[in-house]
Amino acid sequence: MTDKLALHGGPMVRAALLRYGRHALEEDDVQAVAAVLRSDWLTTGPRVEAFERALASAVGATHSVAVSSGTAALHAATFAIQVKPGDEVIVPALTFAASANAVLYQGGTPVFADVRPDTLTLDPAEVDARRTVHTRAVMPVDFAGQPAELDEINTLARARGLAVIEDAAHALGAEYRGRRVGALADLTTFSFHPVKHVTTAEGGIVTTESADLAARMRRFRNHGLDGEFRERDAQGLEYSPMVDLGYNYRLTDIGCALGLSQLGRLDQLLKRRAEIAQRYRSELAAVSELSLLTVAPDVRHAWHIFPILLELERLTKDRRTILAALRAENIGVTVHYVPVYWHPYYEARGYRRGLCPRAEHAYPRLLTLPLFPTMTEQDVQDVIAAVTKVLRYYRR
Ligand SMILES: Cc1ncc(COP(=O)(O)O)c(C=O)c1O
Repeated sequence: MTDKLALHGGPMVRAALLRYGRHALEEDDVQAVAAVLRSDWLTTGPRVEAFERALASAVGATHSVAVSSGTAALHAATFAIQVKPGDEVIVPALTFAASANAVLYQGGTPVFADVRPDTLTLDPAEVDARRTVHTRAVMPVDFAGQPAELDEINTLARARGLAVIEDAAHALGAEYRGRRVGALADLTTFSFHPVKHVTTAEGGIVTTESADLAARMRRFRNHGLDGEFRERDAQGLEYSPMVDLGYNYRLTDIGCALGLSQLGRLDQLLKRRAEIAQRYRSELAAVSELSLLTVAPDVRHAWHIFPILLELERLTKDRRTILAALRAENIGVTVHYVPVYWHPYYEARGYRRGLCPRAEHAYPRLLTLPLFPTMTEQDVQDVIAAVTKVLRYYRR
């Protein structure tokens, strides 16, 4: 017997919508922000440096440059390594458009590479397969919170003279072979959007071991000016010379106070995410209409999101119907990601479907279940119940 779906007028699994992601704020966070609002600095003040130091220390990096978003962090990284027109950067097909856009911002060309079918992270073999004389860098993405295969990618990149920018927007707190994500690549970028592990509302950061790259990015986030207002003020200088064409990508003291307060709970937030992911993995392992992504034995997964793969061959309906049926049950499922080059903007620039067959095979099967630290046990049970109900209904 199958239960009548909410999509067909049956009872919903839950009364209120459970979104796929949500910030986890506590009273301390609110107090930290309120304290900044009463202080002298709303932006580019002492909390920015304090947040940069705390974040660098949390991920084991030497330098960090806070910027206004994860996207700005990626742009700062492509600027820092001086991607220019004619340069190619290898980017996995399954990522947020921002990863590839950061190459375009510099006038460079994103070259899309395929993913491994089991983890959906960049397949290291693709680095050589997609490399040309114009390749400048490779940008592995830590999909869902699982680090890409950084040792293999770094080794290849070093041998071929390529820079590595790791897009770790999903992977704050992740570890790879016992080392924290943040000092594994030439540049590592993080995002502090509210659905991420730690939030500054909007915000991002780039970590690096290179003092030179860090200095370039500090100028870049502040119009290309050599020196920030507080330094200039302290030294009594009339102006800071503009030496690069930069942007206003500064992160505020308000955001950094929130980030600092949140960072104090990073371990707790990661632990709760991992608990929920473990519940899903054990409860859904036996559902033959879906498969779970592989987690490599040598990583600590940061569980930013929980994508599953629908076994479409075992189902009577496609992902569109299943997504609608789960939403009707009030489970806010979503999709990460359409292959970047399927976006109209990329298509209009000559990218064609078929470039990355494994990413394209995964795309119509991908469905992201809700995962955020403040989910209750009931929320987790509701997701499992709804997924089981809907997939049983559409079982072939
Ligand atoms: C893989 C990836 N890269 C970059 C970004 C951009 O981050 P932001 O939204 O902070 O600009 C995101 C955001 O979700 C992301 O998922």
